[in-house]
Amino acid sequence: MLESAASLPFTIAGATVRGKRLGTELGFPTANLDYPPGSVLPPNGVYVAQATVEGRRYAAILNQGRHPTAPEGRATIETHLLDYAGGDLYGRHLTLCYLHYLRPERRFASLEALKAQLCADEADALLWLGVHAPELADLASLNAAETARRKRCDDACPPAGPTAEG
Ligand SMILES: Cc1cc2nc3c(=O)[nH]c(=O)nc-3n(C[C@H](O)[C@H](O)[C@H](O)COP(=O)(O)O)c2cc1C
Repeated sequence: MLESAASLPFTIAGATVRGKRLGTELGFPTANLDYPPGSVLPPNGVYVAQATVEGRRYAAILNQGRHPTAPEGRATIETHLLDYAGGDLYGRHLTLCYLHYLRPERRFASLEALKAQLCADEADALLWLGVHAPELADLASLNAAETARRKRCDDACPPAGPTAEG
């Protein structure tokens, strides 16, 4: 029997709970949303989202699933805010609106490979937001996020372009 899944745009809200802090180690700190078991959610995967914390909206990427590269417990919703420079969001109220499906969740052979994928996800999300939701994050903060991403991801994401062979 097919399980029903929520469709986009999908909104869910709750408190943020402490995670394993692996995201912070990778350079992608995440806020983990506490949600009731049995909630009807969109299919697991990685999404572009709008996050709202204390009335302020942020562009975000989130992973909903069992994070098989570093498994732990039940499925989680882990969100990385693209244009947020503040500290820990632990205990704050977070509202997430899933806007766009980017890709399925995957198991990576190493944390470096996961980090490279997170860099690519962020780049894809910034592109999507620039085209489809420029009102969500103004251009200045998207540009700041892109500059920060490049600094953080330089070693994990070699610049795209022709190979030595042409
Ligand atoms: C946008 C995004 C995409 C992610 N994609 C994957 C994935 O494909 N596979 C995976 O194992 N974990 C994925 N993760 C989950 C990370 O493994 C997770 O952030 C990590 O386990 C850190 O969790 P923590 O902050 O609770 O320690 C993703 C996380 C984010 C924010």
